Amino acid sequence: MKLLDIYAKMKGDLDAIEGQLARSVTSDHALLTDTSTHLLKAGGKRIRPVFVLLSGKFGTYELSVLERVAVPLELIHMASLVHDDVIDNAETRRGQLTVKSKWDNRIAMYTGDYIYGKALAIVTELENPQIHQILSGAMVQMCIGEMEQIRDFFNTKQSVRNYLLRIRRKTAILLAISCQLGAIASGADRKTANALYRFGYNVGMAFQIRDDLLDLLGTEKQIGKPPGSDIRQGNITLPVLLALRESANAEELQAEIDNIQSSNGAGETKRALNIIRKSAGIAIADKLATRYIAKAIEALAGLPNIPAKKNLTDIAHFVGKRNY
Ligand code: IPE
Ligand code: IPE
Ligand code: MG
Ligand code: MG
Repeated sequence: MKLLDIYAKMKGDLDAIEGQLARSVTSDHALLTDTSTHLLKAGGKRIRPVFVLLSGKFGTYELSVLERVAVPLELIHMASLVHDDVIDNAETRRGQLTVKSKWDNRIAMYTGDYIYGKALAIVTELENPQIHQILSGAMVQMCIGEMEQIRDFFNTKQSVRNYLLRIRRKTAILLAISCQLGAIASGADRKTANALYRFGYNVGMAFQIRDDLLDLLGTEKQIGKPPGSDIRQGNITLPVLLALRESANAEELQAEIDNIQSSNGAGETKRALNIIRKSAGIAIADKLATRYIAKAIEALAGLPNIPAKKNLTDIAHFVGKRNY
């Protein structure tokens, strides 16, 4: 099922969120308004706000409350991307120039900070310290995940466990709390909020594994940036780790990665990509993503069979197979 078809029933509420997002980054500072609006207009899947709204259906659904969680979560995600593109030295995102390449690194750092500030301004309109704590805790985990990624650049000896821990922090937790906070903000009970957290967490793990696969297998048109960006910058993802273990050409792959490292990002990635694409690492990573999706769907088992449950299940299936 296509994402747009799954979103169709929520279109009115999603349009309202879209309007709030645009207003939230608009201020009397023209440059900050421009830089943040640039990324917002480039699009994106808006999966975090969608998780908030659908999870809110398991309690008392009230858009005016849920949007104060949904908008900050998308803003935090956006801010993290603006900073991530500085760290990854990425020229394009969502098929458009990144803030750091359209403007520069310094402007991107403050754009990210500005968007974080706007996110806090909105979520604190909800007088619920539990929500604030969960959100700030996830932001801290995301920073740790991104820092660990920098620490492990070009580390081909890292374990799979290490990789999984890192993607849990940098990606899965934010998706998990999108579901959990939607449930909490709508007054759903604890058991429901926990089940939804587990759903979001497992979808999140699959989401990042697929992101890493797409970086190796996707076309520029599909992924909105040149493929091979991860290996060029030294981000050793799961299929690469597996290829280094499973492939008959593991030694050659290691030598190619060494070349990329010594050329400071300018090196040829084609041969490394060819080895990885042909290795068993692709299918093994794919299978692991599918397993996380199955676990996500299992987490929903005890919840009532309302339409939102079917929508979440459809999104999980989409993520398991996503090609953008
Ligand atoms: C990109 O997230 C960064 C990751 C966590 C993999 P998304 O794939 O959700 O990005 P957009 O918002 O759709 O552009
Ligand atoms: C996701 O990591 C970024 C964050 C979670 C902040 P990636 O570096 O893989 O994301 P893309 O591929 O640039 O979108
Ligand atoms: Mg990146
Ligand atoms: Mg990526």
